[in-house]
Amino acid sequence: MAIEVRQVHPQFVAKVTGVELSTTLTAETVAALNDAINRYAVLIFPDQRLDDDRLLALGRLFGDVEPPRNHRVELRLKHAELADISNLDSRNQLRARDDHRRLDSLGNRLWHSDASFREVPGALSMLFAHVVPPVGGETEFADLRAAYDALPADMQARIDDLVAEHSIFYSRGQLGHTEYTEAERAALPSVFHPLVRIHPGSKRKTLYMGAHASHIVGWRMPEGRLLLRDLMEHATQREFVHRHEWRVGDLVIWDNRCTLHRGRPYDDATHPRDLRRVTTKDYARVPEHVA
Ligand code: OGA
Ligand code: MN
Repeated sequence: MAIEVRQVHPQFVAKVTGVELSTTLTAETVAALNDAINRYAVLIFPDQRLDDDRLLALGRLFGDVEPPRNHRVELRLKHAELADISNLDSRNQLRARDDHRRLDSLGNRLWHSDASFREVPGALSMLFAHVVPPVGGETEFADLRAAYDALPADMQARIDDLVAEHSIFYSRGQLGHTEYTEAERAALPSVFHPLVRIHPGSKRKTLYMGAHASHIVGWRMPEGRLLLRDLMEHATQREFVHRHEWRVGDLVIWDNRCTLHRGRPYDDATHPRDLRRVTTKDYARVPEHVA
């Protein structure tokens, strides 16, 4: 069956059919999917069947896998390399309101780019839906290449060479969740990333920011924060946003290098939501002292 790619938003996002991701994909298929990712940034594959082994194997076809933070958790999933995007604990019970892990993961409701708080951040994320709630719990995506293109030329020139500081504790702190130990903080110091990047697969310019980005290096703190807020407001206008309503069996791939995403609310005290993610490493951002 031939792969069919159908764009579903005027700027980005495509639905892909005719490919069974649980089978071993040929190099040709992976190349075709990479081309589609570079063009559309978000790909939606309905009706997939992926257990934890298959999901991890799928991620590895696209790059080296970036493990999630996994702090203070008894793992529920088979592999520590998979991010458990659920409201469940290791016994598949709904997490309590005050559960640290629950409060930490509420940070995913802020617009962000996965692992931008790491020196080597996330490139591609692949999120698979096992269980979805009856209402809510959608995921929204914003197109940062289109958002950059739509900025006035003087704004583009003003921001082209800026660098932003990113920290996971900044994003969590915005929601007032600050209960991290010294050791947890020391393990993830702030990192620096250019605010404007050339997206490697398309050579298009893109903004690069999100909830972990706190301020602009070398600027006065309030000025940098205001600039980031303005850019976030600009980039998340509805014309740049696609909302994905999950169905069981959906696998969504997004490119963290040129999009933002956020989870939307649902009644997590009543309904399970079980999504699982694998993310690849963005080696284009390996700083010299790490390489
Ligand atoms: C993620 C994420 C949002 C959601 O998996 O990285 O941010 O809707 N998910 O669960
Ligand atoms: Mn995320």
